[in-house]
Amino acid sequence: MQQFDQPSVVAAWSDQQRVAGRRVALVPTMGALHEGHLALIACAREHADSVVVSIFVNPLQFNRADDFDRYPRPIDDDLALCAAHGVDAVYAPVAATMYPPGFETHIEPGPLADVLEGAQRPGHFRGVTTVVAKLFLATRPHVAVFGEKDFQQLTIIRRMNVDLDMGVHIVGMPTVREPDGLALSSRNRRLTPAQRAAAVCVPRSLQAVADAFGAGVTDPAVVAATGRAVVDAEPLARFEHLELVDPVSLQPVQRVVAGTVAVTAAWFDDIRLIDNRSLASAVTSVAT
Ligand code: PAF
Repeated sequence: MQQFDQPSVVAAWSDQQRVAGRRVALVPTMGALHEGHLALIACAREHADSVVVSIFVNPLQFNRADDFDRYPRPIDDDLALCAAHGVDAVYAPVAATMYPPGFETHIEPGPLADVLEGAQRPGHFRGVTTVVAKLFLATRPHVAVFGEKDFQQLTIIRRMNVDLDMGVHIVGMPTVREPDGLALSSRNRRLTPAQRAAAVCVPRSLQAVADAFGAGVTDPAVVAATGRAVVDAEPLARFEHLELVDPVSLQPVQRVVAGTVAVTAAWFDDIRLIDNRSLASAVTSVAT
C-alpha cells in the first residue's frame, strides 16, 4: 500500500493508474475507521481497479473547537486496516498542506446546506464541499463512495459534482448498523457504556416514525412527534431535531409520502449523533 501526504504526488499516482487503464475510486474519510468505512472500501473496490482512501480530519467543517480536538485520530490503526483490506493508496495530508498560509478559496454550497444539519452547524457544509473538492482534485477519481448516514452531505456533494462538472461517479452506500440498530460512526467510540446503551433510542425513534407512517399517519408534525417521544424518554439523550423532508430538495414535507426521509440528531452529553431513514410505502388499507 502506498502512502501520500502531498496533493501533487497522489495526483501523479492517480494519473499513472489512469494511463495504465485502471479506474480509480476514492473513499474520503476523517479516519477512526470502522466497519462502515470498510463497507465503503469494499464498495469502492467493486467500482474500480485502484482504491485510494483519504484520511484527513478537516478543521473547516468543525464549528466547535472542542469537537475538532476530541475527534479520534488512531492513524496507525487506520493504516493497518487499510492495508489489511487491500487499499492501494492512502492520502493523509496534514492541515498545513491542505490549508497553507494564504488559503482563502472555498466552495460555497447553495440552499441545500442551509437546512437540517446546516442550520445547526453554520459553515459545516462549506467546509465539507471545499475539502471534498480538494480531495477530488488531488486524487482525480473516476468514482467516489460516501455513506448514506450523512444523507445531507451526500445530497450536497452530488449537487456540487453536477454543478461544477466534476464528472465523478458518486456512489451512496447504505448505512451500516450495529445489531441493535445504532448507525456506525467514529463518534460512537466516545460514548460511555451507559450512553452507548442509551444511543439506541436514535434508530428506535426512526423506527417509531416508520411505524407511524406504516400505520397510515401522514401529518409530518404527528409523525415527527412519535419519533421525538422515543428520544425524550431516554434520560441520557437530548433531542435536537427530527424532520420529515423531501429527498431531493431537503425541504420539510407538507404530507409524509413514500420516499420521504426522516432525518434526526440527538446529543449524549457533548457527543452528537445523526441518523436518517427513508420511509417505505404506508399500509393504505387492510382487507377484512
Ligand atoms: O463524511 C466524512 O467523513 C467527511 O465529512 C468527509 C466527506 C471525509 C469530508 O471531510
